Amino acid sequence: MRLKWSKLVLVGMLMVIAGVCNSFAGEVEVLHWWTSGGEAKSVAVLKELLEKEGHTWQDMAVAGGAGGNAMTVLKSRAVAGNPPTAAQVKGPQIQQWGDEGVLANLDEVAQAGNWDQLLPKVVADVMKYEGNYVAVPVNVHKINWMWANPEVFRKAGAKVPTTWAEFEEAAKKIKAAGFIPVAWGGQNWQEATVFESIVLGVGGAEFYKKALVDADPAALDSATMVKCLDTLRMVLQYIDKDAPGRDWNLATSMVIQGKAAMQFMGDWAKGEFVAAGKTYGADYVALPVPETSEGYLFNVDSFIMFQVKDKGAQEAQKAMARLIMEPTFQEVFNVNKGSIPCRLGMSHKPFDFPAICSFDSFVATAQTGGLLPSMAHEMAVFPAVRGAIFDVVTNFCNSNLASDKAAKRLASEVQSAM
Ligand code: GAL
Repeated sequence: MRLKWSKLVLVGMLMVIAGVCNSFAGEVEVLHWWTSGGEAKSVAVLKELLEKEGHTWQDMAVAGGAGGNAMTVLKSRAVAGNPPTAAQVKGPQIQQWGDEGVLANLDEVAQAGNWDQLLPKVVADVMKYEGNYVAVPVNVHKINWMWANPEVFRKAGAKVPTTWAEFEEAAKKIKAAGFIPVAWGGQNWQEATVFESIVLGVGGAEFYKKALVDADPAALDSATMVKCLDTLRMVLQYIDKDAPGRDWNLATSMVIQGKAAMQFMGDWAKGEFVAAGKTYGADYVALPVPETSEGYLFNVDSFIMFQVKDKGAQEAQKAMARLIMEPTFQEVFNVNKGSIPCRLGMSHKPFDFPAICSFDSFVATAQTGGLLPSMAHEMAVFPAVRGAIFDVVTNFCNSNLASDKAAKRLASEVQSAM
C-alpha cells in the first residue's frame, strides 16, 4: 500500500515537472544563409537537437553566399521593429548590433558552459560586447583553400600547383585539354575571397595585415598590391564566360563533375563534396591556395540573439546557445560543414584529412603570426571598408582596369569609407 502511494507521488511529481518544462518550451526564429546542399545538411543538426528539447525552430533561410542578402533582410526586419530571435551575424558587425542595444546577454549560458576556457581568445573576444557574451560561435572556416579534381589534372597531364608560376603552367595545359582551369563564381564576395588569398600569398602575412586588416592606404596603393592584382589578372584568363553571377556551390559542382579543374574557396566547399558522396584523395584533393601554406585566413560563423520578452522564447534562445557549444553539435555540424570546431579540446578522430590540416595549421599559424582574419568574410574590417574593397575588386575583375590604377582606387575608396 505504502509503495503504491509513493509511486503515485512520483508519477504526480513527474507530471508537474513535465508541465513546467513544457511551459518553458518556446520558439526560435533563426535567420541564416545556409541553403546549399552541404550547408543545409549542417544546419539541420541544430534544428534537430533543439526540437529534441521540445523547442520549435522557425526557419528563416535567405539564400545568397556569404550572407549579403541575409544581412539586408535582417536590417529591414530590425528597422521594422520585428527582428528574428536569432540571426547568423559575424565579426565586427556583432559590435554594431551591440551598439544598438538590442542584443540578449548570453553570459549565464557562457558561464555555465565554461566558454571562456573552451574558446580560443581570438574567437571569444569577437563574441563579446563590452565584456559580455552576445554571440555564440559555431565553427572556424579556413578561407585559403584550393579544391582540385585530380582526374582532370591527370587527363591534362598537369600537376596540382603550389605556386602561381606552377598554376599558370598547369592552367595552360588544362585549357588546351578542353577543360575549364578555374571554376569561378562571378559575385563580389567570391572575387574578394580569391583576391585576399592572393594578397596573403604574394604579399605575405605582414602585408596582408597592413592592407586588409589595418586598411593602410600606403599598403593598398603599393608596388606589392600591384603585383597581387597582376596575379589576379593572370588567374582571370583561366575562367569561363559563364562565370558572372554564378553561385559558389555551382562552381564547386563544376569541379565535382570534372568540368573544371579547381576552385579557390573556403572549406565550406568541402561540404559540397561530402554531400555529393565524394571521397577525399580519389575524387578531390585540397591544397592551400598557391603560396599560402604559411598562412591561415580564418572565418568564424556565429549567432546573435535579440532581446525577447516571451519566457519560452528566452529559454529556446538559451538552449540554442548552449547546444551550439556542446561537443555533439560541434562534431556533427563541422564534419558536414567542412569547418573545424571552435571549441578547444575536441577529438580530431571523426575529421578527414583537410580538417586535420586545418586543425594543425590553426595552431601553427597562431604562433608564427600567419593566423589572420578574413576581410572578405567579415572578420577584419567594418562593413563600409569591406564594401569599398569589394567594389574595386569586382570592378577590376569585370573590366580591363590596370593594376596600378586599381591599387590607387583601393587606397582612395577605402579612405573615404573610413
Ligand atoms: C561564409 C560563411 C560560411 C559559408 C559561406 C558561403 O561567409 O562563413 O559558413 O556559408 O559564407 O555561404
